[in-house]
Amino acid sequence: MTLEEQAKDYFKGVVYVTDSQWGDGGKGKIVDLGARDVVVKTNGGDNSGHTVCNKYGDFALHLVPAGIFNPDVLCIVGSGVVVNPLQFFNEYQALLAKNIPLAKCQLAEDAQMILPWHKMRENLKEVARGEGKIGTTGKGIGYAYADWTERVGLQLGNLKKTNFEELFWKECSYQSRLVQAMGGNSSQLWDEAGKFFVDLKSAKETLLPMITDTKSNLGRLKQNGYSILGEAGQGALLDLDFGSWPYVTSSHPGMIGFMISTGFSPREIDKVIAVMKPYMTRIGEGPMPTELNDDFGQQLHDIGKEKGVTTGRDRRCGWFDVPATEYGARTSGATEIALTKLDVLDDFDQIKVCVAYRIENGMYPRIYHMRNEFMQKVEPVYEVLPGWKKSTKEIRNFADLPENARNYVNFLQAKIDLPINLISVGPHRDATFFR
Ligand code: IMP
Repeated sequence: MTLEEQAKDYFKGVVYVTDSQWGDGGKGKIVDLGARDVVVKTNGGDNSGHTVCNKYGDFALHLVPAGIFNPDVLCIVGSGVVVNPLQFFNEYQALLAKNIPLAKCQLAEDAQMILPWHKMRENLKEVARGEGKIGTTGKGIGYAYADWTERVGLQLGNLKKTNFEELFWKECSYQSRLVQAMGGNSSQLWDEAGKFFVDLKSAKETLLPMITDTKSNLGRLKQNGYSILGEAGQGALLDLDFGSWPYVTSSHPGMIGFMISTGFSPREIDKVIAVMKPYMTRIGEGPMPTELNDDFGQQLHDIGKEKGVTTGRDRRCGWFDVPATEYGARTSGATEIALTKLDVLDDFDQIKVCVAYRIENGMYPRIYHMRNEFMQKVEPVYEVLPGWKKSTKEIRNFADLPENARNYVNFLQAKIDLPINLISVGPHRDATFFR
């Protein structure tokens, strides 16, 4: 069976692809492989950056779902996503300009829009917080979600209204008072909003036909037997409730995010696949117990090309952390794991794995709450495993991996207590194999 045939079988039904760590584990590649009928992006916004390398080239997607390269697929941006409409338009247009046959797209009419004031308010806050900043991506994510929970702001469906112009400027007027109260430059906001509005006007022709009641559509499609593949943004350890608050994002990358954007209950979800790297990375501030500030960290960074797709910031790198990843997999509802980037460890003599946290006299092989204060204090307890010192890049089945690589995979599987069913050894779609 070819990889594509295997994938057709494996991704049948209602399947969610998330990340059991701090994001950037390679969800885009797995979604690109698994896209069958419908792909739905569930949470976050253009803070996410999905890299997809396929026969058309290498792409960095932010808002457009990674199923876009399959013309038989319907790509949905779900209602739990915060959408900068111009970002979506620009990304979509850039793909169209390359003459790639694209999937059809739908955008949730009830998704909150990210508009110029959100970025401005976020920037003002991050600067004002100084040392206490979160290190956000600067895309306005937190403020769009804040307006949503505050029950104000504009949703994509508003774009369809005949009085949208009036609604936009009314909102701008309200937001400019907030910006002013925060010590910001409100006339700069009016300028930016003016330019944004002009661009939005020309994007409307493309966007309006896509805006619809996606929850009803998803329910009907599922009812009619179509496979639905959810695509998370970020990773479980950045979850607003389960992560080390406040060093989190403002949405739910785990199964809850899938439920929010689709209305599906957990009983209707067949599989939750959590991607996981065989080491850790994190962007932005916040605790990371196994972070390496030495040559090993640099090596992981360089070989793994660990730079943020969205911000270009260097990702912090460290050894694999069992308590954190096991917690991330559990709280995201994972039923199995896709292990990505195994090849990044090809050159290491020895590989360390944090198997527990130590704090004062206590040992924690598992955690049940990733409290920031706790995570700031823990010391990692390591086990050392031998490396395999051989390239795995060309390998396409588990039995052909060097013995120490197989042992390493089996070790992680036993610690996480979930089957590792997919493994990837390179960025390209074909560098993935089923176990
Ligand atoms: P925000 O999502 O821009 O509000 O940023 C909150 C935190 O989540 C920061 O630490 C970001 O670096 C991190 N973050 C947001 N999006 C991603 C992502 O796609 N991958 C990894 N980290 C992310």
